[in-house]
This record gives sequence, structure tokens and C-alpha cells, in this order.
Amino acid sequence: MGICDGRVVVITGAGRGIGREHALEFARQGAKVVVNDLGGEMDGTGSSTGPAGEVVDEIRGMGGEAVANGDDVSDWDGAGGWSRAPSTPSARSTCW
Ligand SMILES: NC(=O)c1ccc[n+]([C@@H]2O[C@H](COP(=O)([O-])OP(=O)(O)OC[C@H]3O[C@@H](n4cnc5c(N)ncnc54)[C@H](O)[C@@H]3O)[C@@H](O)[C@H]2O)c1
Repeated sequence: MGICDGRVVVITGAGRGIGREHALEFARQGAKVVVNDLGGEMDGTGSSTGPAGEVVDEIRGMGGEAVANGDDVSDWDGAGGWSRAPSTPSARSTCW
């Protein structure tokens, strides 16, 4: 029983560093986690679904629930898209 049972959290930049640690701890506490990460290089260029996907695999491996999202949160449409997703019928089945 965790303190976040039944809750959904969206964590941006959760593929690495402090965001990753937050994602893992929220999952340990029972939250369903949307793991957002652009997956760029250290210099800010590029993008990859790798880092977010690896954290999702880690959470699922410990029995938790998570989905990956690779949108750029500095982009209005990217951030707005997933933040609205749980309330749209087509997204409910994948984003809770
Ligand atoms: N206050 C504190 O004690 C403290 C401690 C640690 C880190 N921080 C701050 O937290 C931030 C993260 O630090 P970190 O060491 O975890 O960095 P990090 O580089 O290890 O991780 C950041 C992640 O964010 C992702 N990202 C970057 N831009 C993005 C975007 N537009 N959309 C989606 N994902 C994006 C990157 O791909 C990366 O995986 C920094 O600003 C750092 O200064 C503060």
C-alpha cells in the first residue's frame, strides 16, 4: 500500500536524473506514472524515446504501471497534448 495508490502522475524530464528518481519513487508509492522525456543529447539537440522507455520498463519490472511520452514540454502543443490526454475518450485506455 503506497501513499499514491489510485493516483496518476505526469513527470517531465523523467528519463534521466532527478526526474527519473521521482518517477521511480512515485511508482513505488503506487502511482500510475506518465514518464515524459524528450530524450535529447546533453547539448539539447536531438530526441529519442529511449530514456523514457527504459524508465517505463524499470517501473513495469517492479510491478508498477507506466506509459512513456516523448513530447517536448517546452512546446505548447507537445505539453498541451499529453496534459489533456487523460480526459479525452481515445486516450483513456492508454493513459488512465
Ligand atoms: N534543486 C535541486 O536540489 C536540484 C537537484 C537536482 C537537479 N536540479 C535541477 O533539475 C533539473 C534536472 O536536472 P538533472 O540533473 O536531473 O538533469 P538530466 O539532464 O539528468 O535530466 C533532465 C531530463 O530532462 C529531459 N528534457 C530536457 N528538456 C526537455 C523537454 N523540453 N521536454 C521533455 N524532456 C526534456 C532530458 O532529455 C533529460 O533526460 C535541472 O534544471 C537541475 O538544475 C535541481
